[in-house]
Amino acid sequence: MRRDVVVIGGGAAGLMCAAVAAGRGRRVVLLEHNGRVGRKIEISGGGRCNFTNLHTTPKNFLSSNPHFAKSALARYTPADFVALVERHRIRYHEKKLGQLFCDGSSREIIRMLLDECEAAGAEVLTDCRVLSVSRRGAEGGSADAGRKTPRAAGSEPGSGANDDEKAGEAGRGFVVETGRGRFECESVVVATGGLSIPKLGATDFGYRLARQFGLKVVGPRPALVPLTLSEKDLAHFRPLSGISIGAVVRAGGAEFAENFLVTHRGLSGPAVLQVSSYWSPGQALSIDLLPQLDARALLEAARDNNTNLTAALATHLPRRFSQVWCELYAPPRQPRAYSRDELRLLAELLHSWTVEPTGTEGFQKAEVTAGGVDTDELSSKTLEARRARGLFFVGEVVDVTGHLGGFNFQWAWASGHAAGLHA
Ligand code: FDA
Repeated sequence: MRRDVVVIGGGAAGLMCAAVAAGRGRRVVLLEHNGRVGRKIEISGGGRCNFTNLHTTPKNFLSSNPHFAKSALARYTPADFVALVERHRIRYHEKKLGQLFCDGSSREIIRMLLDECEAAGAEVLTDCRVLSVSRRGAEGGSADAGRKTPRAAGSEPGSGANDDEKAGEAGRGFVVETGRGRFECESVVVATGGLSIPKLGATDFGYRLARQFGLKVVGPRPALVPLTLSEKDLAHFRPLSGISIGAVVRAGGAEFAENFLVTHRGLSGPAVLQVSSYWSPGQALSIDLLPQLDARALLEAARDNNTNLTAALATHLPRRFSQVWCELYAPPRQPRAYSRDELRLLAELLHSWTVEPTGTEGFQKAEVTAGGVDTDELSSKTLEARRARGLFFVGEVVDVTGHLGGFNFQWAWASGHAAGLHA
């Protein structure tokens, strides 16, 4: 079966890419191994899909190269996606902080993307397992298949002395072997996502394929993920699970002012999920429990009024949390028995409470995967591999990871769109 473009993976990035490429008149087939496309879109945003964020900037993304995402994000913006959503008459609302959600169901976004594919003439095959990808003429999945004609460092398509050689390589195209037959094509777009939530069909296929073609992969790790605490800490905090507190949480040079949540295994909630993407094993979190307040003034006022410290803290923090926190750090005494220095130290601790996570809840619970195909290997404009002409990587499989709040889908749309214009 001959096609111009084979897209592997029917998630957000793959569907967008297939529709855009087919809209240019390319013969496109999208291959998805699940029984239906868009499983993550379906469950996202609690079933309402936080499909973009109005305040998207490159600063909302982590990558070994923080500049990489700029080009695609600038050329396909949240406004472009909103225009598409409005064209399909999908009703939506801003929940908070620029986060746009469907009023109805995330299935409307999947329907929209499938309608776009159909209108453009892209074929979508589900239950289709991809077995191997190789250069045409090098079938058999040789690990060297992608390295036949490495492009001169820094050269872009259509420039430099070895254009004929490159054109020859591109002209050779690919053979994609699947459980539903063999496809020959000029371009392959890898949109297989990250490793999070394996039960929804996540695989390491994209990383393996990148390595097969000689491309570097930045070690994938769980991100936007709950953090775990030691049994010793849990003995104190587990009974508080379900309590949510507005705070500023810091780790790895990043800080987020949102709520965090105590869970039966550790900490979660938006502030902890956000900071988890920057956290490395062995690091401590620093949590400002009273970011809007001068804790020292609060404690000194309690001392002057002879109010016990738990009661004073409970005016700003959940009572049960204040109790446990005081049991740990403020020995029970008459408030007036505290010296000013002791209160100063306690105040400092309230503004930078140190918590040492033991790990994360892993890919089973991670909303995304950080790391992925090294951006040095890809053109930021087209998402094509510099050393493997005709091979593109889009979406989460690339080493670009968004913050919580609609940014990961915006990257999927933008990178899928960029590759769709060139594949
Ligand atoms: P995605 O994972 O969506 O798609 C990859 C596809 O490739 C899958 O359909 C998979 O089955 C398929 N595949 C994998 N290997 C294959 C193979 N070998 N052959 C064929 N097919 C293969 N983001 C956001 O911006 N707003 C939100 O509200 C949420 N909410 C959210 C909730 C939960 C629970 C999770 C787990 C994640 C989110 N996200 C999110 C993150 C967001 O879902 C994610 O970043 C995008 O779906 C990434 O899109 P991709 O298309 O790159 O991968």
